[in-house]
Amino acid sequence: MSVILGIESSCDETSASVCIDGKIVANIIANQTIHELYGGVVPELASRVHQQNIVPAVHQAINVAKIHKKQIDAVAFTRGPGLLGSLLVGTCFAKAFALANNIPLIEVNHMQAHILAHFIEDPKPTFPFLCLTVSGGHTQIVLVKDYFDMEIVGETLDDAAGEAFDKTAKILGLPYPGGPLVDKHAKLGDPNRFKFPEPQIADLNFSFSGLKTAILYFVRDKVAENPNFLEQNMDDICASVQSRIISILLNKLKKAALQYGIKDVSIAGGVSANSGLRNSINAMAQTEGWNVFIPKFEYCTDNAAMIAIAGYYKFLKGDFAGQDVAPMARMPF
Ligand code: KG4
Ligand code: ZN
Repeated sequence: MSVILGIESSCDETSASVCIDGKIVANIIANQTIHELYGGVVPELASRVHQQNIVPAVHQAINVAKIHKKQIDAVAFTRGPGLLGSLLVGTCFAKAFALANNIPLIEVNHMQAHILAHFIEDPKPTFPFLCLTVSGGHTQIVLVKDYFDMEIVGETLDDAAGEAFDKTAKILGLPYPGGPLVDKHAKLGDPNRFKFPEPQIADLNFSFSGLKTAILYFVRDKVAENPNFLEQNMDDICASVQSRIISILLNKLKKAALQYGIKDVSIAGGVSANSGLRNSINAMAQTEGWNVFIPKFEYCTDNAAMIAIAGYYKFLKGDFAGQDVAPMARMPF
């Protein structure tokens, strides 16, 4: 039997999870609401709130899992990528916990963990599969050959898809974090009402900065003509922007699937919580003959369950980190 404690603290969610024999039995997520006041994550505040939340989150995870801390066999933590101060809190906690309990320490790459969230529950994809990983900081198409053998075959040249959602929301005057609010308005709007440009980027790469500028100028010009334009058209604007972001993402995913001859296709990361993206990828699966894998909602945005499951697969291989391991703001696969 193996009991793994997972710790996630790369951005603004403090999370602790317990994985017993590859099954997640607790996944506690403490959201930080303080950043709403500033319209974005303030790194210094994030690390301070992580410091307050980490011990209660771990206690709660252990209680929910109905285990004693002495039963834990290893502690897995997010080493990177992320905000350095935030990562430091989780890393220091994990190191101290491992040392105090004399158990191994396991480092996990946050972006790999988003992909390994597909192994929390059935049905699971089979290797090799493609994963479109879309979060607040990254947009990648990853060829997943094995649990820890992954190749990035396409990525964004500028903004991430989550940033495109959040910046759109900001331009529209919606509060932070804007992605889920754009999604909510989009459900009520007409996606064909306004046309936004699709960038012509080579290979399997993405670009979202042109779209952001197009939205900014569009809103500026329309509001100059009619000061109430935003309030009157919020649902249609959100639906139109969301539909363009989705078509940019899925056109490249389709290209990658054809290029690599792959039928098992998945999405991961915070933006995979988007209802429009979930519906559209399922529709594309019908025409392309794909098997599509989408993690449960709570495993899409940042969570420690994905860290614990990644930790479980590293535990099986005996792949442990030393006490000298340091967090990395930028971390390659
Ligand atoms: O993976 P994640 O929780 O954190 C990072 O590692 O970045 O992703 C956060 C991103 C944010 O940009 C947020 O606005 C976006 O995911 N997001 C969404 C939705 N839920 C979260 N974007 C669009 N629609 C959603 N429903
Ligand atoms: Zn993430």
